[in-house]
Amino acid sequence: MQYLDSPTNIVILGASGDLTRKKLVPALFSLYCDGLLPREFHLFGFARSRKSDREFRTMVGETITTRHQPDPSVCDIRISEFLQRCYYHSGQYDSTDDFRKLRKRLDDVAPRSNLLVFLAIPPSIFLKTANSLRGAGLVEESGAAWSRVVVEKPFGRDTESSLELTNAMGKLFSEAQTYRIDHYLGKEVIQNLLLLRFGNQIFEPIWNRNHIESVTITFSEKIGVEGRAGYFDQFGIIRDVVQNHLLQAMALVAMEQPIRMDAAEIAEEKTKLLRATCPMDPVSTVTGQYEGYLADPDVPDNSVTETFVCTNLCVNNARWHGVPFYLSAGKALDTQKTEIILRFRPVPFSIFGDIAENTMVIRVQPNESIELRVNNKVPGVQFQSSSVPLNMLYHEEFDAKVPEAYERLLLDVLRGDRSLFIQRRELSAAWQIVTPFLKLVEEKMVRPKQYAYGSTGPKR
Ligand code: BG6
Repeated sequence: MQYLDSPTNIVILGASGDLTRKKLVPALFSLYCDGLLPREFHLFGFARSRKSDREFRTMVGETITTRHQPDPSVCDIRISEFLQRCYYHSGQYDSTDDFRKLRKRLDDVAPRSNLLVFLAIPPSIFLKTANSLRGAGLVEESGAAWSRVVVEKPFGRDTESSLELTNAMGKLFSEAQTYRIDHYLGKEVIQNLLLLRFGNQIFEPIWNRNHIESVTITFSEKIGVEGRAGYFDQFGIIRDVVQNHLLQAMALVAMEQPIRMDAAEIAEEKTKLLRATCPMDPVSTVTGQYEGYLADPDVPDNSVTETFVCTNLCVNNARWHGVPFYLSAGKALDTQKTEIILRFRPVPFSIFGDIAENTMVIRVQPNESIELRVNNKVPGVQFQSSSVPLNMLYHEEFDAKVPEAYERLLLDVLRGDRSLFIQRRELSAAWQIVTPFLKLVEEKMVRPKQYAYGSTGPKR
């Protein structure tokens, strides 16, 4: 593959942050171990804190482990090779001059290379940073070398601010250069939704209002916002998880078949679905805040930020009219899971008395699986029915490891494949679903109900 041979510099802005340590560096190392990074690649960390290359390498070394390379004898060699390719540059995000210096370093270490810049920085400094990058001429495409910018959510706070941000970024980078990450799209089971739906003749004919009673998408985390409250309190769970991860999952579950497997065509269908989705209705929405949230030193005493939400969305099109899409997301709950459940309508008339409805449970995490529940006769002399699973567990079925979402997505940026990245129109359509409700939250017209840490959420 051509991309493996072209020299590439990867620059992470926000190199001291959590995302870099927990996700980006391990993902890059894993790609490196699998031979999927360009042969000549260099990783540059950029952040405000002063650090030498050696100190940065120590930090990187602490974040990568044998987990990414099971053979310990090979692992040490791989780690040391990888670290040799790591550099650090400190600077201010709003200083064009500092980015010019970074550019000079990139040119010294690896001239005429492709450039991938990952903005792993807080939203408040997105634009300033993008301006400085552009001002320093860092992301201009020259000759055969490409230059791509990866942006992490949140992309704005509501429809309006998101549009402003998109337009402002659009003046600095072309849309083709811009990769908006929603890491849920990199998750194996989420990627599988298209194949499951459109690559199996048995599902598509029943994937509609005639056969499906409801769709439930659940995101539940056991931990609260410990260590991230400063960020979280400004956004809340609707912006943090629903506007992006859950609505993307819903779009893939409910959209029409794209005319081909191509980034623009997939985005087109997702956009249509999101545009057909009604905005969150305050009557069918419950928000909550877990007890103890306000005790976090980074949370203001009077915060009304929601850490839980459940809502009921409707889709106004022929396929889904009348089918509720129940979305719920929460922190500090009793379980850790993300799953999609399709509940099918009961048989029109049961000659077996009471029998269960069929369901399909698509488990995104943990323990990725797809489970179809069907009614089966309990073996024995009586005629008794039981709802049993036809279950496909990823870890039993496939030998291959399930890659981390960021591995897949970073690889796609290197390949120039934008299919799993968020495009402008779908972003705006998703914001329109949540913005009216968020305005009510901001105006304190709705307040979160308290719920106990580790519970199932507030009463509803
Ligand atoms: C992030 C949110 O986008 O996704 C976090 O900001 C959330 O609040 C995380 O915890 C969940 O990701 P994952 O991959 O652990 O399900």
